[in-house]
Amino acid sequence: MCGIVGYVGSREVVPVLIHGLMRLEYRGYDSAGIAIIDETGNLIIEKAVGKIKDLTEHLWGKNIKGHIGIGHTRWATHGPPTVENAHPHKSRDNSIALVHNGIVENYVQLKEDLISKGYKFSSQTDTEVIAHLIEEEWDENLLKTVLKVAKKLKGAYAVGIISTKEPDKIVALRKGSPLVIGIGEGENFIASDIPAVLEYTNKFITLNDDEIAVITKDSVDIYNIDGEKLEREPFTVNWDISVAEKEGYKHFMLKEIHQQPKSLTDTISGFLSNLDNPVFDNLNKFNKLYIIACGTSFHAGLVGKFWIEKFLKIPVIVDYASEFRYRESPIDEKTLILAISQSGETADTRFAAIDSQKKGAKVLSIVNVVGSSLSRESDYVLYTYCGPEIGVAATKTYTAQLITLFLFAVYGGLKRGFISQREFEDFRHHLSILPKAIEETLKWEDKIKDIAYKYQNVKDFLFLGRGLNYPTALEGALKLKEISYIHAEGYPAGEMKHGPIALIDENMPVVCIAPEDEIFEKMLSNIQEVKARKGIVITVTDSDNSELEKLSDEIVKVEKVSSQLSPIVNILPLQLLSYYIATFLGKDVDQPRNLAKTVTVE
Ligand code: M6R
Repeated sequence: MCGIVGYVGSREVVPVLIHGLMRLEYRGYDSAGIAIIDETGNLIIEKAVGKIKDLTEHLWGKNIKGHIGIGHTRWATHGPPTVENAHPHKSRDNSIALVHNGIVENYVQLKEDLISKGYKFSSQTDTEVIAHLIEEEWDENLLKTVLKVAKKLKGAYAVGIISTKEPDKIVALRKGSPLVIGIGEGENFIASDIPAVLEYTNKFITLNDDEIAVITKDSVDIYNIDGEKLEREPFTVNWDISVAEKEGYKHFMLKEIHQQPKSLTDTISGFLSNLDNPVFDNLNKFNKLYIIACGTSFHAGLVGKFWIEKFLKIPVIVDYASEFRYRESPIDEKTLILAISQSGETADTRFAAIDSQKKGAKVLSIVNVVGSSLSRESDYVLYTYCGPEIGVAATKTYTAQLITLFLFAVYGGLKRGFISQREFEDFRHHLSILPKAIEETLKWEDKIKDIAYKYQNVKDFLFLGRGLNYPTALEGALKLKEISYIHAEGYPAGEMKHGPIALIDENMPVVCIAPEDEIFEKMLSNIQEVKARKGIVITVTDSDNSELEKLSDEIVKVEKVSSQLSPIVNILPLQLLSYYIATFLGKDVDQPRNLAKTVTVE
């Protein structure tokens, strides 16, 4: 949902901005731009529609030099992707340029006011009002002016500003959209996300909501909205830059699929070394639990419901965060909200959680990005330990969310006395062999690639599963839709006969997730129903059942794990299937059209 980056120091600024933007491109790729103050003190702005490579081509031969600047990669909200709407935006007097991630909700009113004072707008964006407002409200210096302007803005934003009037500093402000400050030696950075500047520093400060930072090459000063100076210690990130590289894989998505044995191992051990999380001592205070999330995280929540109701014995309602927020659910101090989000910045999820807190509920979040907004706003946090996920399609964070939900349910069950220590140890054993099972399942990659090749030109897909693997069907369909643009639907297999079975003919591939669990026989009957209508059956199973083999046009055998853990293994072939179909179709797998990795607007 837009990425911003900024640099002040002694390096040539343009390559720093371009590298940073490339690492932020997953946040939006409709247009991109940079603003720098050059060696003669002039403001130079360059923009291009499209991706960072289009901006790089546009910059070719321009030889722009300077040591301070800001950059932006856009996911369009207000106004289509045009050069005029691309950031940075500037003030009328050409002294100020800024980049913005978020939405200024009261921009219409601010714009009308500025127009009545003679300001002309060259874009359709909400952002441009901030640039004109800074010019209009100018008061001694940039900090003082931005403090005044920030009080007039409503909505969510992270903003980076430079001015020719104070050419040695970047002023950054934040409310609701992520922003970190990278601390170097004789140089400093701002960025929407850590990997953008990780090749230069591993020391960071997170800017909190309603805070403003003044950044020069040798100093970082942070103020609250009233202009009071705040103390903030940097934290160190232990990642090396390879986390933001493809490391030989063609796409981040493929790398991230293959990282799952490690991300699961890390998430399991991360969970087990934090068993003193206070949520476990408070579980008895809650009589109901809402899981709220979006997209893939929502699908993880659907699986989590099974585990939490089974092991923790608390009733669970799972809802899309965007729906939950605007419904009057009976929330009180006995309600636990479990908010799941890879980024921890998804506006729908954050705001639904915050609203619930206001009604007395406590919020437990499952988050991948350490220090993200949701993690700081929650009463309790459980982290997934995946490192950055760069591909827009969530893969390794989905399986890590699943494992965290499973561990939350079984350890919570132990603490509440519904599970014995022996049962808990038994589950630990099953978890310890899971990463190996993932590794073995990934060895089916070539077979899955062949299936993808064969069915790449099909127009519609159905995904069927039952019980714990009904959400697997939904997630498989989502993966295919978002990166290959093929229409796909996930359905509970038992529900098919109530309508969707009408869709099935000899052209319809039906991906059937059929683990050998207690409802295997029922699933087998549903597959018979598909076959009887000449559907093409693509089976994902851990079973050697000969009837199933006969019914299947294609079969992928996953490793056998405890049936409770089967959704974690069964999703792998579906991730690979969508990946290979999309690559055969020549789609942009890591940056599918219309999407952004982090959705910070409602
Ligand atoms: O960061 P979050 O987990 O809150 O993101 C939620 C969804 O936007 C996300 O899962 C989205 O659906 C992915 N593109 C799915 O691959």
